[in-house]
Amino acid sequence: MEKFSIKGGVNLKGEVVISGSKNSSVALLPAALMAGSRVTIENLPDISDIQTLAELLMYLGARVEKNGPGSLTIYPHNLFQWQAPYYLVKKLRASYYLLGSLLSRLGKAVVPLPGGCILGPRPIDQHIKGLTALGARVKVKDGMVTLKAEELKGAEIYLDVVTVGATINIMLAAVKAKGKTIIENAAKEPEIVDLANFLNSMGAEVVGAGTDVIKIYGVKELTGTSHMVIPDRIEAGTYILAAAGTNGEVLVREVIPKHLDAVIAKLREVNANLEVGEDWIRVKGCPHPQPTNIKTYPYPGFPTDLQAPIMPLLIKARGTSIVTENVFEGRFKHVDEIKRMGANIMLEGRSAIIEGGNSLTSAPVKAMDLRAGAALMIAALIADGESIISGIDHIDRGYENIEEKLNQMGAGIKRITCSNEQEAVSR
Ligand code: EPZ
Repeated sequence: MEKFSIKGGVNLKGEVVISGSKNSSVALLPAALMAGSRVTIENLPDISDIQTLAELLMYLGARVEKNGPGSLTIYPHNLFQWQAPYYLVKKLRASYYLLGSLLSRLGKAVVPLPGGCILGPRPIDQHIKGLTALGARVKVKDGMVTLKAEELKGAEIYLDVVTVGATINIMLAAVKAKGKTIIENAAKEPEIVDLANFLNSMGAEVVGAGTDVIKIYGVKELTGTSHMVIPDRIEAGTYILAAAGTNGEVLVREVIPKHLDAVIAKLREVNANLEVGEDWIRVKGCPHPQPTNIKTYPYPGFPTDLQAPIMPLLIKARGTSIVTENVFEGRFKHVDEIKRMGANIMLEGRSAIIEGGNSLTSAPVKAMDLRAGAALMIAALIADGESIISGIDHIDRGYENIEEKLNQMGAGIKRITCSNEQEAVSR
């Protein structure tokens, strides 16, 4: 079992280069299976989610070649398997994108239901609604989702909930369906725009991605392509919040600042000093953070994935801050862990009320999901003393080389391996 040992009292200084977007990459790789010839994807983040997905594509019959750092070529010609194995699917919630891509490519798909996870229930009713509307026969039994469709036909689909996953899955199934599909109340995340650009470079006709109405005109075939993944706005936001939380001076490079508008606005509200360039954001300290209120919403609102990582900064701010989580039920599992470090937070329904101004102290804490893990790392960098974070496999799922990137900026993070007996006595 690996853990992070983190020395606190740090002011991060230096620069960090942002990797490709995890949440874009996990949609692009399943989409590559629909191509008639090889697909090369560059700027993929080196994280375990991507390794798991590459294994899944190979299990299904595709050939996957590593060209170099962050670059894979997928040869989807010999795709023969339409059943995704549980031992791989259980590692990666986004495996459910195989539903849309296998249905489109083979007319059938069997994918185990994605595990619920620490963010609360993770239903897929809107995925099912959209895929059914396109002509799939859906069976959900014994924890498996089975789809079959002789022919997929375009449909008008109104999503009851703004959902990234369902928007993406419907896009994947619709690009080769007969006729026109309209997705209304679609999610507008940049990762959806990145996928639309990828699909269109393969010959698809997707219009309106990034707005709440996406139109897809079905085409017969999709060709191979090459594509560069967009920067990871959540990784970038995490380092910006780490820099502000530690009152550091950090240049965050290779970002698309537009994707972080809500975060930049909120940070300026709490008195962080930020400079924004064309593809970089510089944090120049946040010596006296002010309390504020945050409400998470689908893009372009404040991202739910940065709700946990901003908490350590709010804990430093003298006064009351209220964080309301409007996207997921139950995305406050990190609060109990941060309270072990001395934070004063009370949960009321979908809100966390933070009485800030007291200092954080080091403690052994446990990451419950990857963004909670990032929040604990930021809290540990701020706290006095040395903290130990367990559950860091969650963090490795979504942050490429996080300890190297932070140590380059002056953090003192060590990855330690604990034997089972040591594990038994610690948390
Ligand atoms: C994607 O998850 C991201 N994951 C999440 O990032 C992100 O937090 C989330 O979008 C919101 O931005 C990936 O892209 C791999 P949703 P997803 O479907 O698609 C409800 C991270 O840390 N809903 O937009 O699963 C759902 O319960 C991860 O990188 C339904 O009710 O999220 C939630 O309350 C965590 N029915 C809301 O919609 C459905 O059929 C938004 O979920 C689908 C979703």
